Amino acid sequence: MNKQTIIGVVGSGAMGSGIAQVAATQGHQVMVVDKQPEILENAKVKLNAVLNRLVEKGKISSDEAAEIEGRITWVTNIDELESCGFVIEAVVEDLNVKQAIFKQLDVIVAPGAILASNTSSLSITSIAASCEKPERVIGVHFFNPAPLMPLVEIIPAVQTDPEVVAETKTLVDSWAKTTVLARDTPGFIVNRIARPFYGEAIRIYEEGVAEYAAIDHALRTKGGFRMGPFELMDFIGNDVNYAVTETVFREFFYDPRYKPSFTQKRMVEAKRLGRKSGKGYYDYSNGRLVPDVVVDDALSTSITERVVAMLMNEAIDALFLGVASRDDLDLAMTKGVNYPKGLLRWADEWGLEKVLDILEKLHHEYGEDRYRPSPLLRRMAANKQTFYP
Ligand code: NAI
Repeated sequence: MNKQTIIGVVGSGAMGSGIAQVAATQGHQVMVVDKQPEILENAKVKLNAVLNRLVEKGKISSDEAAEIEGRITWVTNIDELESCGFVIEAVVEDLNVKQAIFKQLDVIVAPGAILASNTSSLSITSIAASCEKPERVIGVHFFNPAPLMPLVEIIPAVQTDPEVVAETKTLVDSWAKTTVLARDTPGFIVNRIARPFYGEAIRIYEEGVAEYAAIDHALRTKGGFRMGPFELMDFIGNDVNYAVTETVFREFFYDPRYKPSFTQKRMVEAKRLGRKSGKGYYDYSNGRLVPDVVVDDALSTSITERVVAMLMNEAIDALFLGVASRDDLDLAMTKGVNYPKGLLRWADEWGLEKVLDILEKLHHEYGEDRYRPSPLLRRMAANKQTFYP
């Protein structure tokens, strides 16, 4: 894998076109395939507008913009990916569709080519299983928008050859991205660990502890998050966020810790999707902004401690179960979702006894498995250990 490697991208939606822009900007020839010619044309027009904006802002020269565009070929026939050495699939989140595409790619590309999926929630192992050479299949999960978000999760399937993992990491690192390695488990790192940011915030609202704006205010001011959970869900889209929550819950064999909420389901049913539909938890009609409110300091603290302790517990449990290394878990949350600190480092700062105490009180009060502390948290708190020296 080097700059001469031709990159194939399957699907020219939001993610595929962003990934194509990243690879072409890094000097690769890129071939983008989409089965719908109008979507392909739309992606081409949008990329042109994005590059023009970068020229206007002085980030790239007009020559560079023309070179980037010149390196991308847009095609509707997947057979044209024959000369690609590395192909990233970014079509709809549907296992049957993805498996059919990998089956095709497996015979189209050369034996040494690597096949990657940008799936957010499907098992890489199940996608790899559709190929004759599953050892060359890997997950390469970009965040939206791909050209701006620095994090990429790399997920080997059970079948993936370690050499393929190393080559993929070297290639994506050369694209000025921060890569982290994740085990093939539901939600990988970010989409697993971030669940309580939304779920626990909604639960606090449902219990009548505080309104959306007060919860957002608490997590922004006390937690240091750029956006509170409700404004973030409105930004992501409640349909998208709910779908991830539901998938993670199902894929974890219905572990109650990941249970979706009725509040968000009703939002989706009412088509209150957030900014894109003009209304979600907040009303965005007529250019209205997310309201800020004055919140009692003690209430802000208790809301933030409850949500952040749940996040810390997720990160600690992911470490316990070997989902990723300490450093990768912390990098993923700061680079993938802009958390103010890595959760393990943050837990050290609070002290693990305090984190455990918050969770045990919740567990005792509600009697729900949702609040069970990770065995690693218990063990480390008992031994007065820290994650970092
Ligand atoms: P999208 O719906 O914007 O684009 C998917 C594209 O794939 C469409 O243009 C469609 O025409 C095309 N397509 C479908 N079947 C095809 C086929 N057989 N051959 C060629 N093209 C085909 O979807 P989006 O949002 O770009 O997501 C793509 C993938 O990336 C999904 O697996 C999603 O879970 C994942 N992802 C999405 C993120 C997001 O925030 N949107 C973030 C990270 C990953």
